[in-house]
Amino acid sequence: MDLVIGPLDLPAHVDEALAVQAVAFGLGPDEVAVRRQIVLRHMTSPGARAYGATVGERLVGFVYGMPNDRSHWWSTVVEPYLRSNGNDVWLDDSFVITELHVHPAHQNRGAGRALITTITDTAAQPRSILSAIDTESPARALYHSLGYQDLARRVLFPSAPRPYAVMGAPLPLRRA
Ligand SMILES: CC(C)(COP(=O)(O)OP(=O)(O)OC[C@H]1O[C@@H](n2cnc3c(N)ncnc32)[C@H](O)[C@@H]1OP(=O)(O)O)[C@@H](O)C(=O)NCCC(=O)NCCS
Repeated sequence: MDLVIGPLDLPAHVDEALAVQAVAFGLGPDEVAVRRQIVLRHMTSPGARAYGATVGERLVGFVYGMPNDRSHWWSTVVEPYLRSNGNDVWLDDSFVITELHVHPAHQNRGAGRALITTITDTAAQPRSILSAIDTESPARALYHSLGYQDLARRVLFPSAPRPYAVMGAPLPLRRA
């Protein structure tokens, strides 16, 4: 069956989405329960939206994001790192990719690239920012290929064991 990318009512499908994230990113049941509340709260933010990748009736990937708001927790954590590099202008007029995950059984078929380009194509902002674990992962390779560049490295989020890189790209994202 074909992979279909389209708008996702994320609050209505939060458990399916978190089941994808749990296996793609490695979340335990306690982390899923915490993320569930965070996702539902995020989706009430102005301009928040989500897209899903489905095969038949099955959700196999999703992305969500929103216009950045400097008062949001994520933005307050990354702001000092970006300010120290002179990059904090990236926090204004920017569309944040909050989560992007594709089920491992469906990776490497273009779903991740299609999800992030589709959601950012709907953004009115001239740029996009995100954070990714600071290692040379498939996610970082995808983001680099779309034009995201490192704005800060070794960024520490409270309670996250591993450092993150903050990345930014002009919109629309670069096409292959
Ligand atoms: C990152 C992720 C969403 C990509 O989804 P995907 O559907 O596999 O991605 P695509 O098939 O669209 O691949 C796009 C690009 O990703 C990169 N990529 C994908 N798999 C890769 C791998 N195993 N090694 C290196 N790069 C890889 C390549 O740059 C690829 O571009 P190409 O097809 O032109 O070579 C997916 O790997 C994933 O869910 N990872 C685990 C969760 C995660 O890390 N999420 C991001 C949190 S910041």
